[in-house]
Amino acid sequence: MASQVFSPFTLRGMTVKNRIVMSPMLMYRGQEDGRINEYIYAHYAARALGGAGMLGTEVIAVEARGRISPNDLGLWEDGQIEGLKRITDFAHLCGAKMFAQLAHAGRKSHLSDTAVAASAIAYDDTLGAPAEMTAEDIAALIDNYRRATRRALAAGFDAIEIHAANGYLLHSFLAPCANTRTDAYGGSPENRMRLPLEIVAAVRAEMPADMPLLYRIVAQDFGADGVTLDEAITLARALKEQGVDLIDTQTGNILPGYEGPVYPGYQTPYGTRIKEATGLAAGATGSIASIDLAEYLVASGQADLLMMGRALLRDPFWPIRAAREAGEEVSFPIPTYARATGPFARGF
Ligand SMILES: Cc1cc2nc3c(=O)[nH]c(=O)nc-3n(C[C@H](O)[C@H](O)[C@H](O)COP(=O)(O)O)c2cc1C
Repeated sequence: MASQVFSPFTLRGMTVKNRIVMSPMLMYRGQEDGRINEYIYAHYAARALGGAGMLGTEVIAVEARGRISPNDLGLWEDGQIEGLKRITDFAHLCGAKMFAQLAHAGRKSHLSDTAVAASAIAYDDTLGAPAEMTAEDIAALIDNYRRATRRALAAGFDAIEIHAANGYLLHSFLAPCANTRTDAYGGSPENRMRLPLEIVAAVRAEMPADMPLLYRIVAQDFGADGVTLDEAITLARALKEQGVDLIDTQTGNILPGYEGPVYPGYQTPYGTRIKEATGLAAGATGSIASIDLAEYLVASGQADLLMMGRALLRDPFWPIRAAREAGEEVSFPIPTYARATGPFARGF
């Protein structure tokens, strides 16, 4: 039977050639003005050459103060478009799609004299307390997501992902332990979900109807007064109504440390629960590194796309190895690469 990992997948008007997606990974290697450099270009180009179906960018800050580090990429001004366009052009040459992960670090920004978040509650002892966002800050933030989306379209991205997990700004609004606001953005689950939903609506309104929108959702916080799975499912239903196509599921990280169980594919069950409850497509994440696990997750319908992080960091050419192990004849951007996928033979 043919490998499902190497089968195409369509979301709205975008067809990805296989299910292997590079999960967003911050390289801390961009320029201090938020632009790319040759390291960043080569990093993404290598994974496009390696045969991944889609590449997620690392966090791309929608505001300068929303960076995790001074070396994050940004789309808060027009001059940042050109470099990202070089990357998407090359990915397209290789037959890969790319999504831009639009993000704001919130209280996890290491630029702590400018950090803002839902409430003035520090993430840990090393990062200072952020300033609580005012109503004006929130209105400006939504506008900045809108502008960053327009810039991402100009940069040639095929899809957008809203990052609302891993303890960053939107996660801080969702979690009671980080959000003690008394206005329309705090308190009830409905209020805590308001900002992510407003941002999704603003971003979706800028996007062509045939372009997919991905959302990195937090399914559950462990050992903290954070998001519950029921809340995540309620949020996911609302996201679907607002035009989100795929949820890319994460867990934990609203507080330092990770208290959930970790094993190959460890975040997939949460995503599968949300997929089953909502009908949204799902990306699987968490230590997916073998073709056997990848095949099982896709063929059993638990996930539609495999959001692979460290496996692709270790080996940009993981898809070539996986094709060999799966016994699949797959075409690669440099056709000669296919000669590395066949059975044992003389390598002349
Ligand atoms: C070096 C590194 C940087 C990361 N940066 C991001 C990021 O920018 N945005 C994000 O949503 N997740 C980020 N993550 C999380 C990954 O996308 C992924 O969900 C996580 O590593 C689990 O997948 P894996 O076990 O396949 O690596 C990062 C992970 C690593 C290892």
